Amino acid sequence: TFGKSTNVMWHKSSVDKLDREKLLQQKGCVIWITGLSGSGKSTLACALSHSLHSRGRLTYILDGDNCRHGLNCNLSFKAEDRAENIRRIGEVAKLFADAGVICIASLISPYRKDRDACRSLLPEGDFIEVFMDVPLEVCEARDSKGLYKLARAGKIKGFTGIDDPYEPPLNCEIVLQQKGKNSGSPCDLAETVTSYLDAKGYLQA
Ligand code: PPS
Repeated sequence: TFGKSTNVMWHKSSVDKLDREKLLQQKGCVIWITGLSGSGKSTLACALSHSLHSRGRLTYILDGDNCRHGLNCNLSFKAEDRAENIRRIGEVAKLFADAGVICIASLISPYRKDRDACRSLLPEGDFIEVFMDVPLEVCEARDSKGLYKLARAGKIKGFTGIDDPYEPPLNCEIVLQQKGKNSGSPCDLAETVTSYLDAKGYLQA
């Protein structure tokens, strides 16, 4: 768990999460997409947001790379800064879920304990962890940003999967693989997540 501020009280509002969910006709939750750089996290986040939006559902994407341009611009990639990056996005995602929004967080989030800490911020069931189970070789072969090449050349130190760890989830809600029954286009992968949300009742109030 994280540190606590002192001498602060909780102020309750008269409009609560249930009221907002009724208005939106959906349940607020967090879809947490984790995986290596180049595993397709942002692509899935966009496809999912698009698919839900076209069904009249309110979503918001918190993308690791994007948040590092603002909210998290003072953080590096060393373990304690990654932990702080994930903690902040976990807290913001919790606020979005409380607003009734289907919040899609896509970050490498390489450490299990950091992801679990974010899970523990939300009510049971409302944190849906999606693992992009794509082998390093595949991510590296894609190398869409050219960062793996730089990492192999020693020009980026502490790159996830090369000289920094990635701890895959042990027991997450959804695993998406390149091959096998969950293979397919970003739309297919998004559909797997949407079906999960539907089955769990998140697409209605
Ligand atoms: S983390 O680990 O969750 O804090 O990372 P995240 O905020 O998702 O940022 C990952 C993107 O930052 C770029 N990048 C690096 N990734 C991993 N390791 C190192 N050292 C690093 N340096 C820069 C990279 O483009 C990641 O983008 P994605 O979208 O994951 O490919």
